[in-house]
Amino acid sequence: MRLEENISLKQYTTFGCNETGRYFTNIKKTEEVIEAITWCKEKQLPYLVLGTGSNILFTKPFEGLILKMGIIGINKTNETATEVFLSVGAGENWHHFVSYCVQKGWGGIENLSLIPGTVGASPIQNIGAYGVEVQESIESVTALDTQTNHWVTLSNSECTFGYRNSLFKKEKNRYLITAVQFILKKQPQLRTEYGSIKEILHEKNIKNPSLADLSNAIVQIRTSKLPDPSQLGNAGSFFKNPSLSKTNFEELKNNFPELIAYPISDDTYKLAAGWLIENCGWKGARKGNVGCYDKQSLVIVNYGQATGKEIYDFSEEIIQSVLTKFNIVLEREVNIL
Ligand code: EPU
Repeated sequence: MRLEENISLKQYTTFGCNETGRYFTNIKKTEEVIEAITWCKEKQLPYLVLGTGSNILFTKPFEGLILKMGIIGINKTNETATEVFLSVGAGENWHHFVSYCVQKGWGGIENLSLIPGTVGASPIQNIGAYGVEVQESIESVTALDTQTNHWVTLSNSECTFGYRNSLFKKEKNRYLITAVQFILKKQPQLRTEYGSIKEILHEKNIKNPSLADLSNAIVQIRTSKLPDPSQLGNAGSFFKNPSLSKTNFEELKNNFPELIAYPISDDTYKLAAGWLIENCGWKGARKGNVGCYDKQSLVIVNYGQATGKEIYDFSEEIIQSVLTKFNIVLEREVNIL
């Protein structure tokens, strides 16, 4: 294991904040995972796995070992008349993997095109967009259980996926993911019901979209609404969309008839946090180096020199104003360290 010390994490997270990491190592093989974890246990130091750092905010120096996950490879492990089974290295770039599958004609994850990050990070927060969540295509997850030091393969149900949630968030830092197994469809049912997808396909006069048409439409929507982290530091949605009981939703809707929400069960509604934030006056607002993105209020951006602490404090102000105006507590989607 090759260790680096006291490195700047600026280039390793999409927020681009200049915090430091005490120890840092690149992981290319599964054996190196064991070595790194054993080293951390001996030194009694915490560890942290970084993919592309697209869902993390460092608010202070990290005093443990950062493992930059670089295990790559897409392997077909099985195939039937209707399905393809793939095992994919945790360090594989997510969008590269999606594009590979789209090109092969294997469906299931095309709506998740252009989401920043790595394959290994995708089950942790159960990435989702445009009516699809990654859990629908995951068969199992291979990880080192750092409590027992055994390799485990957790089935889809063992991963206990939820909205931007999973076992890997509930038992934070216990499982170190090295590969994800996917099941993709050879004759996929495309999911085009989301409003802006329909609009784009209609504009382009595409009646029977292919996987590539759908993926391109998603790329177009994302690039028009979300900032490119290589141009403007950000971590996508900073907050989760909150859920509310039907009764509370109806009460709120009475007071704010324009409220945007949709039912997710007979008794629960999901609110568009972006609308709540926008309606507290944050959309496009800027305080020093930090701002609320002008095309999507769920996204907090770093205009260049912001510290993690400044970004965190800005998010706290947003949470407080949404609480004051709507009596709703917003939860952060981004991992805060
Ligand atoms: N809206 C506003 N103001 C805003 C933003 C949104 O009024 O500033 C309204 C929109 O007009 C729309 C509704 O809120 O009616 C929903 O907006 P959008 O379709 O942009 O989706 P979202 O709920 O804001 C979620 C995900 C995104 C994902 C999109 C598309 C979460 C926290 N975010 O955003 O995920 O791309 O849906 O499916 O669930 C991410 O997780 O990093 C992410 C970008």
